[in-house]
Amino acid sequence: MSFQSIPKIELHTHLEGCAPPSFIRGLAAEKKLDISKIFDRNGGYAFRDFDHFLQVYEAACTTLQSPEDFRRLTMAVLEETAAHGVVYMETFVSPDFCGGGDLAAWKEYLAAMVEAADEAEAKFGITLRGIVTGIRHFGPEACKPAAKCAAETFGDFITGYGMAGGEMAGRPSDYSYSFDMAREAGLPLTCHAGEWGGPTMVAETIRDLGVARVGHGIGAIDDRALLDEIIEKEIVLEVCPGSNVVLKAVGGWDAHPIVKLRDAGVKVTVSTDDPPFFHTTMTAEYEMLHRTFGWSEDDFRAINETALAAAFCDEDTRARVAKRLEPAQ
Ligand code: ADE
Ligand code: ZN
Repeated sequence: MSFQSIPKIELHTHLEGCAPPSFIRGLAAEKKLDISKIFDRNGGYAFRDFDHFLQVYEAACTTLQSPEDFRRLTMAVLEETAAHGVVYMETFVSPDFCGGGDLAAWKEYLAAMVEAADEAEAKFGITLRGIVTGIRHFGPEACKPAAKCAAETFGDFITGYGMAGGEMAGRPSDYSYSFDMAREAGLPLTCHAGEWGGPTMVAETIRDLGVARVGHGIGAIDDRALLDEIIEKEIVLEVCPGSNVVLKAVGGWDAHPIVKLRDAGVKVTVSTDDPPFFHTTMTAEYEMLHRTFGWSEDDFRAINETALAAAFCDEDTRARVAKRLEPAQ
């Protein structure tokens, strides 16, 4: 089975987190920034644990300083992602890293990303949509301008609002103002939860933020009543197994709960999160799911159908992408 050629959908990536280390090193050299300490001796990103990962991630982001940097990043990421058979991708983009939450600046960064996404769609056959993202450990106040940026630019490209970052920073309800603002503007919602916080954090995220999807969500496995609620509400989990393994949110591939979640009836999808940080690709994720759990083409087809149904895009886009998932005649 060629895992690379299977047409794939991924719903959970972070645009800056998809930046190859060589790309970030190139920008750092252009700007004469010394960020050498974030790389290991092989040139990859180096971090000890999740908190350190967030620090390294933010240090890498300091090299991304202009709309042009984001245009180049978007092109590079889409070329690489399309090479792994991904036909539709959603990516988290944060106004905090694109002009510091200023709406006018955000619109310029966004225009550059859209320009690259259009070009990449024509060249590489991959469709990109953006989810504006608040950074949780920057605090509830910092998430408000992000939500405002989401509300003001909701449209063909920006199709959702979410929150990433350090999950243990406050309770979900501390962020309800931002989620309410985005919901009132009509945006569908997702939020990282249950990567670190266990079932309580997932339950509160669903109850207090009204999300349609949960980023990771794997902590839900420890609470049968919560699983029933997730199933009943048809909440979709954006599961990123390789990320969970490398960051040690789980003990290893064998211990990953993705199969238990799916077999319990939960809608699960598969994504890479921040592929170069975790030495992964969508091809590698599929290979490991095959090797560890025996997943076959039928399993991958089902996963992609679930992902397409849960995508935050408009119905025309969904219909167009559905055709790309059909096996070649
Ligand atoms: N930002 C980038 N990757 C993340 C992750 N795995 N969890 C939370 N925030 C993130
Ligand atoms: Zn993530």
